[in-house]
Amino acid sequence: MVSSRKDEGSWNELTKLLKEDVLQSPPGQVKEAVKKAIDVGYRHFDCAYVYHNEEEVGNGIQEKIKAGVVKREDLFVVSKLWSTFHEKALVKGACKATLAALKLDYLDLYIIHWPIGFKAMEELVDAGLVKAIGVSNFNHEQIERILKKPGLKYKPANNQVRAKPDDPSLLNDPKIKEIAVKHNKTVAQVLLRFQIQRNVVVIPKSVTATRIEENFKVRECVFLYK
Ligand SMILES: NC(=O)c1ccc[n+]([C@@H]2O[C@H](COP(=O)([O-])OP(=O)(O)OC[C@H]3O[C@@H](n4cnc5c(N)ncnc54)[C@H](OP(=O)(O)O)[C@@H]3O)[C@@H](O)[C@H]2O)c1
Repeated sequence: MVSSRKDEGSWNELTKLLKEDVLQSPPGQVKEAVKKAIDVGYRHFDCAYVYHNEEEVGNGIQEKIKAGVVKREDLFVVSKLWSTFHEKALVKGACKATLAALKLDYLDLYIIHWPIGFKAMEELVDAGLVKAIGVSNFNHEQIERILKKPGLKYKPANNQVRAKPDDPSLLNDPKIKEIAVKHNKTVAQVLLRFQIQRNVVVIPKSVTATRIEENFKVRECVFLYK
């Protein structure tokens, strides 16, 4: 919950930055990327209220469901509760707004975008609006605090954190390039596969059809890392 004008300013600034980030995608691009991803074989879609593109993701998913390409239960759809809705009375409404934008009856996983609050999320599982709840950007101590909460009903199912494989310093790293050439893969594929082999669930984002395919194909390769 926002506790001071200073905090409010920071959240508003952060929200603005995030909005600018996602609004870089021209209208329609995200929907087409979702459709392409479903055709390629992706089944996990990671969304968030604050990305302001849940309508488009929902439209892409709905078109593919209507066309009979996938069923709802084939998909694993995730969204995130934004930081201005942590107050208990606001949580259900925020979740329902996300479901309406995505045109879905339930989410497979709903996570707290930043480390504040968790308890109010439990009622969403009981109401059948989400299958599981989780956290994001929590550190070890913050997770421990939740796990030790008296009367905790549902443990967090995940902790989502950002890793940036498209960082130019990684994409141009000579050692990673060498591994990529050796295995006839791209540098991005080596970086994604590295995370998968560490048992991390990777959710790469791309609106580029060739990269959507390239990133999916990391399922096919196994690298040996020293
Ligand atoms: N929980 C959190 O706080 C948090 C924060 C950040 C992100 N996330 C989640 O993490 C996921 C990924 O988001 P992100 O922030 O990592 O994405 P991002 O940095 O916004 O976008 C990924 C970038 O990598 C590029 N790219 C994708 N595949 C590539 C490839 N094979 N070769 C070269 N470049 C490639 C994309 O380009 P094109 O799209 O132009 O192809 C895009 O510029 C999302 O689901 C997001 O929700 C969560």
